[in-house]
Amino acid sequence: MLKIEDRYGRTFRTLRVSLLQHCNLGCVYCVAGEAELKEANAVGDSLGVEQLLAIIRRLKEQLPLDTVRLTGGEPLLYPGLASLIRGIRAAGIDAVRLTTNGFLLERMAPALKEAGLEALNVSLDAVEEEVFARMSRRHSVERIIRGIDAAVAAGLRVKINTVMMKGMNDSQLLPLLDLAFARGLTIRFLEVMAMGHLHDHAGRYLVTQDELLGRIGEHHRITPEPRAESATARYWTTETGHRFGIIANESEPFCRDCDRLRLDSSGHIYGCLSSNQPIGLGLSETAAEWDEKLKLALAQKQELRFVGSDLSMLHIGG
Ligand code: 5AD
Repeated sequence: MLKIEDRYGRTFRTLRVSLLQHCNLGCVYCVAGEAELKEANAVGDSLGVEQLLAIIRRLKEQLPLDTVRLTGGEPLLYPGLASLIRGIRAAGIDAVRLTTNGFLLERMAPALKEAGLEALNVSLDAVEEEVFARMSRRHSVERIIRGIDAAVAAGLRVKINTVMMKGMNDSQLLPLLDLAFARGLTIRFLEVMAMGHLHDHAGRYLVTQDELLGRIGEHHRITPEPRAESATARYWTTETGHRFGIIANESEPFCRDCDRLRLDSSGHIYGCLSSNQPIGLGLSETAAEWDEKLKLALAQKQELRFVGSDLSMLHIGG
């Protein structure tokens, strides 16, 4: 294996695969409105299980890959998800994880566990139905909470992800913390990122790490944990032994030891969320050609911080 590494010692260890661009929610940080969602849901050409596995197996040969995270769009809408998970495990990658909106999780959780999924992150932006609907343009809090509980019952490691947006769902900070802590789950609050239709005006919605810590600190005595290498989140524990995290993409960017490579649903790789330059991979190309492309992708990584993207996570994956 040729070593692909940049001058900061960064390489690719984690692959995030966007399985499709379809989604069954219409969250405000992802799409500007129903029209954009409809357009994404009409895109038809995502790669099949065998094609994805062929790409992942080859990437594993050329990179020190140890983790694959499946995202979308909404990955639970991908046909053949369980056999994909099985195939990735069979390729020698044990840490297969998933990021989902949880809408279909209640009935799918046992099959995902059975297929070899290790852990999942469920996005939940509110406890109050009205606020949830403002964030996601759908009504489904109860259903998603049932999904979370079903995943825990199936033996999956579950974390909750919440994108905090000023004036939209920031009233939900403590209710969400309570919901997670009552279940013994870790919850992570994400600073909103300037992606897709928010590219030029995410700032007005930003709730910073300091604000979050200030508000949580009024109710809990909190202690920071040391940051794990290449982690997106910093974690804190409370006096009650509970744990929460913050993904402070704006306040405390984590580019310097980023180890993530992204693969979109039509077979393009990206070395960075900031970059909109897709790099196409062909299965008929040689290992040397893939090596060159992987180096190009690695060179896309920002030195210091995320600089925004016209693509939303619906297209490029979370
Ligand atoms: N900013 C921050 N988080 C986002 N997510 C999707 N789009 C954005 C954005 N613009 C979240 C999803 C999911 C995670 C992968 O990223 O809610 O939890």
